[in-house]
Amino acid sequence: MELKYTGKTKNVYALEDGNYLLQFKDDVTGVDGVFDPGANTVGLTLEGAGRAGLRLTKFFFEILKEKGIPTHYVDANIEEATMTVKPAEVFGQGLEVICRYRAVGSFLRRYGLYAEEGQPLDAFVEVTLKDDDRQDPPISEDALHMLGIISKDEYQELKSLTQQIGNVVKEELAKKGIELYDIKFEFGRVGEEKQIVLIDEISGGNMRAYKDGEYIEPLELEKMFL
Ligand SMILES: Nc1ncnc2c1ncn2[C@@H]1O[C@H](COP(=O)(O)OP(=O)(O)O)[C@@H](O)[C@H]1O
Ligand SMILES: [Mg+2]
Repeated sequence: MELKYTGKTKNVYALEDGNYLLQFKDDVTGVDGVFDPGANTVGLTLEGAGRAGLRLTKFFFEILKEKGIPTHYVDANIEEATMTVKPAEVFGQGLEVICRYRAVGSFLRRYGLYAEEGQPLDAFVEVTLKDDDRQDPPISEDALHMLGIISKDEYQELKSLTQQIGNVVKEELAKKGIELYDIKFEFGRVGEEKQIVLIDEISGGNMRAYKDGEYIEPLELEKMFL
């Protein structure tokens, strides 16, 4: 297997059959030992975090498959903490797409003059560039198009998929009495036809979830869920 990329929480390998293998690590994003799904650094290492993240990811990707929502998912091996996926071409050097249901995190830090903490947001979508050196700046639809990162049609597709997938996750969490505040996704183009599909993962490390007004840590969320 050829190592393609060493990420913060996963390693990416190329398989001989053309697929990719994602190896989930026990590293979690955050700062100084405190988890933050928006952080650009590994903040802590928690034993079992990789497998727990993969379990939740597998759960959601299989639901999306049943619903006919396109993703890169092929299969998962929980024991080995690996997931086989279809290789995707990312937009530019990678985008993160956030779907927000309540005002917390960076939304509140930026818009606190106008927004109150925890204020409902109706599946509000925002895009940031994956650019660690520039702290993942938010980018508008116009700038994405102007800079040749994504076409206008692709943007509409990206936004629509983000809201559909965010709503699926929100509904699944609600079944367990958990409320989704926000969630972060990655997308890419797959195959000759460059179909836009969800890539990467859907784990506790990519979302903020609350129960009875209390924030739930990623590992705790994964335990409550499965
Ligand atoms: N199907 C895919 N094809 C290509 N790249 C992918 C795919 N799924 C995930 N990735 C990329 O693999 C990397 C996963 O490792 P991760 O540790 O999450 O990286 P990062 O530090 O960039 O968040 C991410 O950069 C993500 O964009
Ligand atoms: Mg990542």
